[in-house]
Amino acid sequence: MAQVFDRSSNALARAGLVLIGLIVVALGVALNSLQRSPWVTRQGQRADQPVPFSHRHHVQGLGIQCQYCHTQVEKAAYSGIPPTKTCMNCHSQIWTNAAMLEPVRQSWATGQSIKWIRVHDLPDYVYFNHAIHVNKGIGCASCHGRVDEMPIMYMENSLQMEWCLNCHRNPVKNLRPTSEIYNMAWSGPSASKPVWCAETGANTTATAQQVNCVTRDPGAQDPEIAQLNSLTTLGGNGRSNGGSGTHLQPVPLHGSGETYSDVQTGAILPARYTKFTSQQALGTYLDDKYRIRTPHELQSCEVCHR
Ligand code: HEC
Ligand code: HEC
Ligand code: HEC
Ligand code: HEC
Ligand code: HEC
Repeated sequence: MAQVFDRSSNALARAGLVLIGLIVVALGVALNSLQRSPWVTRQGQRADQPVPFSHRHHVQGLGIQCQYCHTQVEKAAYSGIPPTKTCMNCHSQIWTNAAMLEPVRQSWATGQSIKWIRVHDLPDYVYFNHAIHVNKGIGCASCHGRVDEMPIMYMENSLQMEWCLNCHRNPVKNLRPTSEIYNMAWSGPSASKPVWCAETGANTTATAQQVNCVTRDPGAQDPEIAQLNSLTTLGGNGRSNGGSGTHLQPVPLHGSGETYSDVQTGAILPARYTKFTSQQALGTYLDDKYRIRTPHELQSCEVCHR
């Protein structure tokens, strides 16, 4: 019987084995990196939402604040997705016939909520809480990126454990005045854009609410500060609001569960503002004033896995 294989096929078979070995190794490496790849974490992907809602249009274009729709973000673990009613506040009058908004009108008519696809979704065994981050000086953009420039929402960061720990190891780099939480363009202080901070309400336990920061020189007879000072007996809320001016109306105290927006700045005279020209210096100051736990404590497993 004739040989089925000629000699050269032996060499071929050996080469084939080596090749298979290489493929197996390559596959292993690929799978490992795949687990961390944006393809698996869904980082950067745009979900196919029932309505192509644009944050860029509504936030940057129309100037609607995050809190108008995500009402719980300062107070609860979840920031929440707005109910259809929030959309209808405007869309019962604007763009009432747009086909794009049909699912919104349907939802309003039937009372069934719009089925938004979740973009960020941590596994159930991870504990996360918006309120603590937001009230301790971490801005939305530090975690979600420039939401005001997103025509369609996507996940800017991986939300993997390493990413969380990277900040918990060194929060100083990311701490900002709580008045700048919603400021998407905040880039930290610099020599040309200093920040001045002072402690207020000295006789209560210090929290993030007891620090007031401004972006204009309080020494230079600034109208913002002058007005703030004149309100000290009433208590003024001196936060500057991402370019849309300062809100200085007196606000009532709500007792426990209050957030920085609710709190009175109280007696701030004589104001002893410290000037900051670098993120490192401001971050170190806020880390102390906000009573941020040590990096060691913030990395312990029980913080996130309860
Ligand atoms: C007019 C209402 C409105 C405003 C204002 C608004 N949002 Fe949203 N937001 C929504 C809706 C609706 C969704 C769900 C649809 C989507 O993912 O785009 C959403 C989704 C999100 C998500 C993703 C949720 C998920 O599925 O994981 C983030 C993060 C977010 N918004 C952040 C912000 C930030 C930050 C601001 C302010 C800069 C803001 N939003 C302002 C309505 C709003
Ligand atoms: C404060 C008013 C206001 C609210 C609240 C609001 N919208 Fe809009 N929306 C507008 C305006 C104004 C336009 C732009 C119409 C135009 O282009 O002239 C618009 C446009 C849109 C469009 C068209 C696409 C685009 O972005 O240009 C969609 C889709 C939309 N909105 C969905 C929603 C949804 C969903 C909600 C609720 C989560 C919502 N809107 C809440 C005012 C609002
Ligand atoms: C420290 C990082 C961090 C900061 C700061 C932060 N977020 Fe989130 N956000 C997350 C994570 C993580 C999730 C996913 C939570 C989950 O899956 O349980 C999320 C989810 C969301 C969602 C989806 C609904 C929900 O609560 O799960 C919205 C809306 C949202 N964030 C809005 C905001 C807004 C508005 C701000 C600023 C006021 C903000 N976030 C600040 C990390 C952050
Ligand atoms: C940009 C910085 C930053 C990122 C990113 C970040 N954190 Fe935090 N986290 C903080 C700071 C600051 C605190 C407040 C520490 C304090 O008050 O001592 C905090 C506190 C916490 C707490 C304590 C809450 C409590 O009630 O005790 C939990 C839980 C937590 N983070 C979970 C997470 C998880 C999970 C992620 C990733 C999905 C994450 N964090 C990402 C900065 C960050
Ligand atoms: C700041 C919050 C945080 C802390 C602190 C933390 N983890 Fe995690 N951990 C996470 C997040 C977020 C995930 C989910 C990652 C994902 O979705 O892939 C995770 C996932 C895990 C997983 C699942 C496997 C994996 O890597 O995906 C294990 C196991 C784990 N953590 C163990 C630990 C241990 C042990 C510690 C203490 C040394 C710890 N974690 C501390 C946030 C944290």
